[in-house]
Amino acid sequence: MARVVCPGSFDPVTNGHLDVISRAAALHDEVVVAVLINITKKSLFTVDERVEMLAEVTKDYGNVRVERFHGLTVDFCVANDINIIVKGLRAVSDFEYEMQMAQMNYRLAKIETLFMTTNPLYSFLSSSLVKEIAKYGGDVAGLVPESVLGRLRARLAEE
Ligand code: PNS
Repeated sequence: MARVVCPGSFDPVTNGHLDVISRAAALHDEVVVAVLINITKKSLFTVDERVEMLAEVTKDYGNVRVERFHGLTVDFCVANDINIIVKGLRAVSDFEYEMQMAQMNYRLAKIETLFMTTNPLYSFLSSSLVKEIAKYGGDVAGLVPESVLGRLRARLAEE
């Protein structure tokens, strides 16, 4: 059973994340999307909301489930019998930090990291940019799933 994890903050999930998750689901028996609970980082959506949004946009994939975790990704992997992390690589700028984490995760618990080059349609996309653009009234349709777009607009209208 090849079970892999796609860890991240997903604040909120973007079409770039979804592209990597769906491609990972096509290649492996099971994909666990793991949302990091990080109380020190200010987020726009609560962990519950992020998990809900992910569950909604991945509901058509029979082999994807969404979990939350705190602490180390490798500890989550060990606890869930996972030995592969799947990450998207958007550009060279992602590479240095991702490589460092991949090597550290291997050093810590022999967890492998597989990198997927992102679809060029989304190579410029990040949750932070989506939030910034939406906050100042820019159009982020097509960058996040429809259901996320609605929640994003509602949340920003509250602020
Ligand atoms: O979506 P993000 O914020 O870029 O995801 C980063 C994430 C959650 C994958 C990374 O920060 C992480 O794995 N955090 C958990 C803590 C951990 O394991 N740190 C050591 C990494 S070598």
